[in-house]
Amino acid sequence: EQIEKGGFEHFMLKEIHEQPDVIKDTFRGRLLSDKGIIRMAGVEDNLEKFTRAKRIVIVACGTSWHAGLVAEYMIEEFARIPVEVEYASEFRYRNPIINEDDVIIAISQSGETADTLAAIKLAKEKGAFVFGVCNVVGSSIARETHAGAYTHAGPEIGVASTKAFTTQITVLALIALRLAKEKGTLSHSEYLRNLVELELIPEKVKEALLADSEIIKIAEVYKDSNNCLYLGRGFNYPVALEGALKLKEISYIHAEGYPAAEMKHGPIALIDEQMPVIVIAPNQNHYDKVVSNIQEIKARSGKIIALVSKGDVQVRKLADHVIEMPQSTEALTSIIATIPLQLLSYHIAVMRECNVDQPRNLAKSVTVE
Ligand code: G6P
Repeated sequence: EQIEKGGFEHFMLKEIHEQPDVIKDTFRGRLLSDKGIIRMAGVEDNLEKFTRAKRIVIVACGTSWHAGLVAEYMIEEFARIPVEVEYASEFRYRNPIINEDDVIIAISQSGETADTLAAIKLAKEKGAFVFGVCNVVGSSIARETHAGAYTHAGPEIGVASTKAFTTQITVLALIALRLAKEKGTLSHSEYLRNLVELELIPEKVKEALLADSEIIKIAEVYKDSNNCLYLGRGFNYPVALEGALKLKEISYIHAEGYPAAEMKHGPIALIDEQMPVIVIAPNQNHYDKVVSNIQEIKARSGKIIALVSKGDVQVRKLADHVIEMPQSTEALTSIIATIPLQLLSYHIAVMRECNVDQPRNLAKSVTVE
């Protein structure tokens, strides 16, 4: 097992550090940025089904469901196709309205999640085209779907999903951009900019990992917290949800993710000097709005841990701690912002002496209801 961990203390840490390489594996052969081409067999063969779809419905569970939320923003923004994201468990039991011109995307790391599999079968019965985004080759979901794309993240052993999530977003970004090109919904320069930026993501993820020693210091300060709030806007709202899920899964600290602007409709009542609030605040769209959210937290003595773009000045003045990360396009920054949150959860869990790779009550793959 020590050998399998490749010198890391836990599988989770190894898998966090594998992300620059596996993200590259995910777009290898699919992304030809110098030619402005995205090529994925499963999408190419079914291009018409996608471009004619009146809407796309994404079904998934857990972390994969969060990747689905990022994809909703990407597909709507780039390809202008309406997207709904559903928990597979809800979808299968509520007699959903699905037509033959709907496309279903099922996202699953293991490809074995019982609820997701059942949702796929139901959508197929209703005549929809079902596309799978799976990590495990030859898994039940990969076999049950009409077509699909693998994430190529390699085996993920840690129960808390890390590299599966960022590679899912990578695949979904490729799909969204390919559809945008076909539909002509994105200017050519914007399309190319995203391709070039996607290619730079592995390097930027590597750079984000360098914040580790800073993150250890922050973990030291907040390891005994009972609660934690995660806030983000736009593409970073699902990242906030995923950050909170990671913390609760492995450290057993109660954590909630919220869209930053929703804070005033409830969570703000919880803020006092005991409450750490992790705010994803890159210097892009809505930056000023996030800054004013941070001011609201500060006015109530909440402790602010902010994820900022390299060279940020404004948030630094307000926050108790900052973690710097490289910037990308708005959509792709969601991949980069995920990294420090994974590390923060990991270090807090280790300091609390929790079983990081096999947290209590959780399973890597939920194959029963
Ligand atoms: C379990 C795992 C999660 C995972 C979820 C969905 O709850 O512990 O990490 O996100 O199942 O799994 P899937 O394999 O379908 O992505």
